[in-house]
Amino acid sequence: MNNQKYLIAANWKQNGDAKSLIRLINNFIRLYKKAKPTCDILILPPAIYLETILNRLKHHKVSRKKISLGAQNISPYQNGAYTGELSVDMTKDYNCNYTLVGHSERRHVFNEDEKIISKKVRLSIESGMQTILCVGETMAEYNSKSTKKVILRQLKSALVKSANLIKSDHNKIIIAYEPVWAIGTGKTASLDDIRDVHGYIHNSLSKILGTKTNSIKILYGGSVNNLNAASILVLSNVNGALVGGASLNSKKFIDICSSI
Ligand code: 13P
Repeated sequence: MNNQKYLIAANWKQNGDAKSLIRLINNFIRLYKKAKPTCDILILPPAIYLETILNRLKHHKVSRKKISLGAQNISPYQNGAYTGELSVDMTKDYNCNYTLVGHSERRHVFNEDEKIISKKVRLSIESGMQTILCVGETMAEYNSKSTKKVILRQLKSALVKSANLIKSDHNKIIIAYEPVWAIGTGKTASLDDIRDVHGYIHNSLSKILGTKTNSIKILYGGSVNNLNAASILVLSNVNGALVGGASLNSKKFIDICSSI
């Protein structure tokens, strides 16, 4: 591992409404100010509430260096006639400095293919965002022992066109390993598997980018909660977590943030 800070990200997905999310962020900030966790924290709210959450952070005088904001998804196009899409530059108006790309729900529910994911990665990095690329195998792929093959394909297809940009600034890309079968199921990958896959991701990144990649963060996601976070975060090559369900509970989420 490097001596970078851990990153703990809350992916709120398509949950809540203005009232409940304001309550959630207010409670979280209150707990955050008491616990003072040392990790970097990222909140990925539904895009329509970015401004609301940004205003709460400002109201409570929380530095955006400590709790950042990001977009759960961005358009593969810069701007133009793309009804319903959100451009990466629009998210900057709300102080976003992270994007999430290639989440398994985007790949599997919305059929985003690897070409689209590659475009999004490039656009996001070009726009100066810290870009979290999600990779992970399905249950069938896990059972057929294809995890590494799938992950290598996902990494290559998403990153090759951005290799030069990433080489010049390793901070611009973060990988999140989220086994599809571990998302929202209460089942996490085994600690051995997480260690093994994260090591494999590092080796693959070095090959794809043709340079040492020790400073590229790799997060684990998939049923991370307040009870299992510490044992996962302590593993080598685990530099943080991408949290879904447990991030919707301010107490559980602060406990996760405080567990390293
Ligand atoms: P859960 O933590 O609910 O399993 O979700 C993980 C995830 O998809 C985060 O992006």
